[in-house]
Amino acid sequence: MADDNNREDTGFAEEELEVKAYDSRLMKRLLGFAARYWYLFALAVILLFASTAADLARPYLIGIAIDEYIRKGDTASLSRTGSYYLLLVVAGFLFNLLQIYVLSYAGQSIIFNIRQKLFAHMQKLPLSYFDKNPVGRLVTRVTNDTEALNEVYTNVLVTLLKDISILAGVLVIMFRLHVTMTLISLAIMPVVVVLTVFFRRRIRKVYRKVRTSLAKINSAISENISGMRIIQMFNREKENYDRFDKIGREYYRAVMSEVITFGLFRPAVEMLSFIALSLLIWFGGQEVLEGSLQFGILYAFTNYLSMIFHPINDLAEKYNILQSSMAASERIFMILDTPAEEDSGMLNIPDSIRGEIEFRNVWFAYNEDDWVLRDVSFTVPAGKTVAIVGATGAGKTSIISLLSRLYEIQKGEILIDGINIRDVRKDDLRRLTGVVLQDVFLFSGRLKDNIRLDEESISDEKVREAARYVNADGFISRLPIGYDTEVMERGSTFSAGQRQLLAFARALAFDPKILVLDEATSNIDTETEMLIQDALARLTRDRTTIVIAHRLSTIQHADKIIVLHKGKVRESGTHQELLAKRGMYYSLYQLQYQKQELQSATSG
Ligand SMILES: Nc1ncnc2c1ncn2[C@@H]1O[C@H](COP(=O)(O)OP(=O)(O)OP(=O)(O)O)[C@@H](O)[C@H]1O
Ligand SMILES: [Mg+2]
Repeated sequence: MADDNNREDTGFAEEELEVKAYDSRLMKRLLGFAARYWYLFALAVILLFASTAADLARPYLIGIAIDEYIRKGDTASLSRTGSYYLLLVVAGFLFNLLQIYVLSYAGQSIIFNIRQKLFAHMQKLPLSYFDKNPVGRLVTRVTNDTEALNEVYTNVLVTLLKDISILAGVLVIMFRLHVTMTLISLAIMPVVVVLTVFFRRRIRKVYRKVRTSLAKINSAISENISGMRIIQMFNREKENYDRFDKIGREYYRAVMSEVITFGLFRPAVEMLSFIALSLLIWFGGQEVLEGSLQFGILYAFTNYLSMIFHPINDLAEKYNILQSSMAASERIFMILDTPAEEDSGMLNIPDSIRGEIEFRNVWFAYNEDDWVLRDVSFTVPAGKTVAIVGATGAGKTSIISLLSRLYEIQKGEILIDGINIRDVRKDDLRRLTGVVLQDVFLFSGRLKDNIRLDEESISDEKVREAARYVNADGFISRLPIGYDTEVMERGSTFSAGQRQLLAFARALAFDPKILVLDEATSNIDTETEMLIQDALARLTRDRTTIVIAHRLSTIQHADKIIVLHKGKVRESGTHQELLAKRGMYYSLYQLQYQKQELQSATSG
């Protein structure tokens, strides 16, 4: 039970990752991605200065209008100033619009590049990486985290410059207009600074909580959807709901405290700005009444004052955005920095290859020293069929992963026609071998594309031919639109036997020299079983084949049978030889045979 409660609390260390809001190492890399678009950023900065200048000029212009023209009744100059003002408003709008467009364009282009790079890099990562990293996390990296990065480019880099330049510009203008009034306007600033520091500390904690609980929600949802069948079959809806309820509430509370923190900060700064404004009017108003201050200047000051508070508000929030996008970039770089699987193999496989396979004293472990295969040796002569049998977890599937070099062995050699596969180019090796896995994976898309796996050189006709050959054509043609049928999520609308036949067709369409079949553990109906047996017999003809079988009936005609036990080769020989030996194979056979006897007795 204690385990159960911890279930959703573990594995989110990466999401909790804390980085500095500004990390020059990360920033340098982020800027590296932006380098290609430097001219867009330059343009954005120019537009930014233009729109800031327009913003700053407006109060100034009104101040002059009041003090110079309205007072003196200079109608002509007043209307001229009016049209300038209008021009400034329109120009400011246009500059702003353009700047947003240019920045978004640059930002999204960079994010696009990073996303593509991430995807490409993930495809090159060793399979062991995916054993350790949950799907939900990697999906979040490619979608949410890249989007969070976007903020750096669009919301921070340039806007930061804008806020700072407005602040600096306003301060310069204010001091030049009237020093005492400026000091009065800034009297409230220490309070604002204290408030901001407090806010920053609080929001940082809150943000992290939001991020982590969102990651939990995402992974809970994705797991529940994938496992819906089990959940419904075992009546686990309520238990799942309760668990989700807990996670949901956690997120709810986190978001609420985020909202409240912001809700407190923004109005508080606003309130302070009004206090500053009333101070200004109180002092300034008296000065105006005494005649020592012009009214236009007071007006301009009230305007500039509100212009100061906005960037301050902004800067405090930017700080947090910057921090969370830095954390996102750290997580993205973690993936990009995971070394891609490099291929030590340089050799091309000659066309004349016959396809003889030899495992020579192979030792293999997924995790260090936890040996899954121990000193395994066997040969498969070219064109022959070798079957591997053994209990669950004996290491059968591992053997075929090694043959395609999905994992590298620690000791020993695997040879094809005497060439060590470690020296062969991986793509060449994989082109040579066709694999039908224990659980067939179907992609979304049309059936025929699932058979040819988007390989354009395989024509519709060839797809059909392959399907006919392995007896898959029968059920496919019975579908309303046959080969154009869309495959839903992982092919859940097809039966296990049908999926197996599709996988056969897929293997055959690529016409591999070497065929590896990992028989599905699940039971299938007798009719499909016969179709599969028949297909198997044809597939393996004149092709070097390794069959991993759970039903011993499948492999009685194999040229050689290898019995694997706890990662070691226990026995090998033909069906008859092994039976005569009365060893492990014999007892396995007895067990299955008895079961079949029993079944036919009860059904008959
Ligand atoms: N990706 C992996 N990471 C770590 N350990 C693994 C991995 N895949 C398999 N193992 C372990 O390696 C051992 C052998 O697994 P393997 O899949 O080769 O068995 P198998 O003989 O194919 O079993 P089955 O008949 O059930 O298919 C098992 O103990 C399993 O726990
Ligand atoms: Mg297996």
